[in-house]
Amino acid sequence: MKKSILAFTVSGVLLTASAQAAPDWSKVPKRDIQVFHAGITTIEWTMKKSDHSGRTGMVKGESCVGCHEEKGGLNFNMKRMASKELEPVAVPQTMNFPVSVQAAYDKDNAYLRLSFKPPVGSANKDDKENDVKATVLFANDKVAVSAGDKSVAGPLVGCWASCHNDARTMPGADEHKTKYTKDGAYELMQWKSAKGAKAVDGSVSDKRSMDGGTAGVRAEGDNKGGIYTVTFTRKLNGALGEGKTVPFGVAVHADHATGRFHHVSMGYTLGFGADGDIKVTKQ
Ligand code: HEC
Repeated sequence: MKKSILAFTVSGVLLTASAQAAPDWSKVPKRDIQVFHAGITTIEWTMKKSDHSGRTGMVKGESCVGCHEEKGGLNFNMKRMASKELEPVAVPQTMNFPVSVQAAYDKDNAYLRLSFKPPVGSANKDDKENDVKATVLFANDKVAVSAGDKSVAGPLVGCWASCHNDARTMPGADEHKTKYTKDGAYELMQWKSAKGAKAVDGSVSDKRSMDGGTAGVRAEGDNKGGIYTVTFTRKLNGALGEGKTVPFGVAVHADHATGRFHHVSMGYTLGFGADGDIKVTKQ
């Protein structure tokens, strides 16, 4: 009898300790990345030479960021982005905004903190429950885009390998078809602003699954004067691990937006004791 009481006490203490293991964010550097309204510029669009001359560089191994990020900003032609050609339905009032990213890890978990001010005036307000959602996709090392006899590696294209012309909210697409990949998979995590909403621990492979992940995702968010801070905690497993450079992308659904009416980042990498656009701080 006595023995089991002791065991219970000890595990209780351990639980408390792990819940408090959040990183000291004041010691973790910030990197701003821009998210933007990408309209209908799907992977098919980016890989079609007559639509996007960047295709030539993509098959030679250049990344979206390599061509489109300049001095921390974006060099897109925003007039074109907001025109009927690339956005036939509705354009948000704000085409892009920065998301500040911080990343840390310890031997069990990875911690990702996003801070941003989601703009109002979205192009679509179909999500009645959530003002804001923040999503992160991590590509595994099999994500790739085939281009004739060539293949473009996942880290170069961010979330674009999951973004297709025939997916829901694209013009003329099936409303039930979600994001998917042809090669490899993404791990997906999402925070939703609705009170009591559960963090999503999902994936994108032949379809998008909003559960069934094994990363044990937890997410907390708060809104202080319009600035949102969202902190994700997940296991250092799957696509993530010590010594790995992990490709990721961020999307924010601002002002009740759904589906493709989000603001998305291009693809960046997290370095867990390895090279990366953002070096993940070990704590
Ligand atoms: C080798 C350089 C290069 C790469 C790599 C590249 N692009 Fe581009 N991209 C361009 C150029 C040049 C234009 C403008 C003219 C055009 O569309 O051909 C452009 C245009 C665009 C536009 C339309 C807005 C505009 O300024 O005309 C979008 C959106 C875009 N690219 C997204 C992407 C995404 C997403 C990726 C990665 C999946 C990517 N690009 C990769 C060079 C590149």
